[in-house]
Amino acid sequence: MVPIVTIDGPSGSGKGTIAKALALKLNWNYLDSGLLYRCFAFLHSENIENISESFSRIEHKYDSKSENILFDGNDITSAIRGKELTILSSQLSQKSEVREQLMQIQKQFRKLPGLVAEGRDMSSKLFPDSKVKIFLTADLSERVNRRANQLRNDGQKVNISELKNEIELRDGRDLGREHSPLVKTDDSILIDNTSKSVTETIDFIEELVNERY
Ligand code: DC
Repeated sequence: MVPIVTIDGPSGSGKGTIAKALALKLNWNYLDSGLLYRCFAFLHSENIENISESFSRIEHKYDSKSENILFDGNDITSAIRGKELTILSSQLSQKSEVREQLMQIQKQFRKLPGLVAEGRDMSSKLFPDSKVKIFLTADLSERVNRRANQLRNDGQKVNISELKNEIELRDGRDLGREHSPLVKTDDSILIDNTSKSVTETIDFIEELVNERY
């Protein structure tokens, strides 16, 4: 049995930062499922024919300080994190055939010594047997600020009120969709990290891992 931590939450809740840092700390594998939806959107927008098979052309490089996404060796990080693919990935993720295709790819990430998986339906749909399920959230204004910083770090210009609208719209789409909407399952632990430090949240989750696995 491969131990797993599942972290779900809305955009900008900090789940990416927390999941990646936790995976690095535990020396476990890391699944950023949103990134797979973004890569799907990228391949779709490039008119790539066999999308499922083309995932092998994408490489996700990360360490505690940085992250890069490469397609055939070319850096596509800013496109992947940019506005167009953010919107397109959210739209495409509403289609059940897209979710089906990505399901198998996501499950393959579950390998020893363990997996930290983050997204919208990790606890509810992909890995319901997870013993450590976290629902991470933060106030909208805090989430907008975090996303703004993330985009600025990627060298992109930010318009705060536009960004706020986009996030609200995307929240609505991710929460309201028919297939695998973002939900907090009954057995998930709610963490509101609006005023919590990253370290505080990671330490809390790590304690749960030690208790339950
Ligand atoms: O986490 P993110 O912002 O990178 O995700 C991009 C989009 O992918 C998000 O708007 C909805 C979709 N997504 C999903 O439907 N299910 C997941 N488990 C993760 C992301």
